Amino acid sequence: MDKIVSLCKRRGIIFPSSEIYGGIGSSYDYGHYGVLLKNNVKAEWWRALLQERDDVVALDSAIIQHPRTWEASGHLAGFTDPLVDCRTCKRRYRADKLEDGQCGEKPSKRPGQGPNCDLTESRNFNLMFQTTVGPVQDEGSTVFLRPETAQGIFLNFKHYLQFSRKKPPFGIAQVGKSFRNEITPGNFVFRMREFEQMEMEFFVPPDEADQWYEFWKQSRYDWYLKLGIREDHLRLRPHDPDELSHYSSGTSDVEYLYPIGWQELEGIAKRGDFDLTQHAEFSRQNLEYVDTTSGERYLPHVIEPAAGADRATLAFLCDAYDEDQIDGDTRTVLRLHPALAPVKAAVLPLVKKDGQPEMAREILTELRERMQVEYDEGGAIGRRYRRQDEIGTPWSITVDHQSIQDRTVTVRDRDSLTQVRVAISELAAELDRRLHAPWQSPKLGAD
Ligand code: GAP
Repeated sequence: MDKIVSLCKRRGIIFPSSEIYGGIGSSYDYGHYGVLLKNNVKAEWWRALLQERDDVVALDSAIIQHPRTWEASGHLAGFTDPLVDCRTCKRRYRADKLEDGQCGEKPSKRPGQGPNCDLTESRNFNLMFQTTVGPVQDEGSTVFLRPETAQGIFLNFKHYLQFSRKKPPFGIAQVGKSFRNEITPGNFVFRMREFEQMEMEFFVPPDEADQWYEFWKQSRYDWYLKLGIREDHLRLRPHDPDELSHYSSGTSDVEYLYPIGWQELEGIAKRGDFDLTQHAEFSRQNLEYVDTTSGERYLPHVIEPAAGADRATLAFLCDAYDEDQIDGDTRTVLRLHPALAPVKAAVLPLVKKDGQPEMAREILTELRERMQVEYDEGGAIGRRYRRQDEIGTPWSITVDHQSIQDRTVTVRDRDSLTQVRVAISELAAELDRRLHAPWQSPKLGAD
């Protein structure tokens, strides 16, 4: 993980937030290449749900919802972690994860194991961030930053029945920021207090819930494989009954083998009609679906694939990170699926003269209409290749002396390091072809 954190900082992918003020625990800022990478992750998620299906529609709901939302959803009463304080070192720990904590005193031990540790009784701590709206701070002005995007979908369910002309089974998908006052954030962007979720609530007739649960488990697992995650680093793990959230009658996690071990990447849950029932009761609105032909009415059941955009980005980074030896030097390379790579192609004139920069810029102009490309003329060609390898650019296009004579360029492949000559007139089509070809991680089976 340390190597990935350091590469991310060095190459402008992800930085610790507010660093000039000493940082603020577990907040991160995405730099230029990180924005491009995470945007690609989210775009692939939207593609799989919206573009490649016709039974899912999109939503972007507000972060601050009516406070009754969180009463109805159960978050106000039950979205808590057990917390203990140490009276000696003043640190806070999750009572159920003491084995992951570190005592503040030297020699550092697990909380509770040091000679001076003085832990309080465990008490429940609500993870929702609270703030107030409007100029007067009284009880009625208290609101919460959403701890999941899902509830915004349930609040809008009625609108979707009316305008979208969809009937169950259909889904509403949303991507956006969620906030949790995690007691022990950490492991880079794996657990933060402010993070992005990609969630879909799929509303189904109650007797179809089991079959759609199976469908979405497989479909979401396959999505990561298709984007190049190695199969031996990915698994589906069903929750034990004592792990289930208050709303769930069945949950499976897609887990990835991060450098910190197997951890949750995405959860697929059977939420039943819990949420619609609660919101119907608290809002006194009828949220039933009514079939206009048969007159049948029911509260749909919900299957929810809930993924984290940051955790997915981190998994793709971990899976892609590699080092190899070239000419006696260690090369760091991100072997990202081309669809996820922040930059698809770099255009590099071999020298800064003889018409090469002009020809390279001409190519850049043509390619940028189709894909994210970058121009770089600074430094030795080998160092420029390495810079592109470090951000995962799959192809580097070099304009050289021969290019000026016969309008061909070399295309260097990030993974195989092969270079082939391609006519400039065929370059865009060739890159399009490569971008859409099936792809497998060259790291598969290597470790
Ligand atoms: N609506 C259901 C729900 O929110 P969750 O398992 O709590 O379920 C879904 O969250 C996903 O959101 C997780 O699988 C994870 O990828 C991401 N996530 C949750 N908490 C996070 C945190 N503190 N930092 C980064 N990602 C987080």
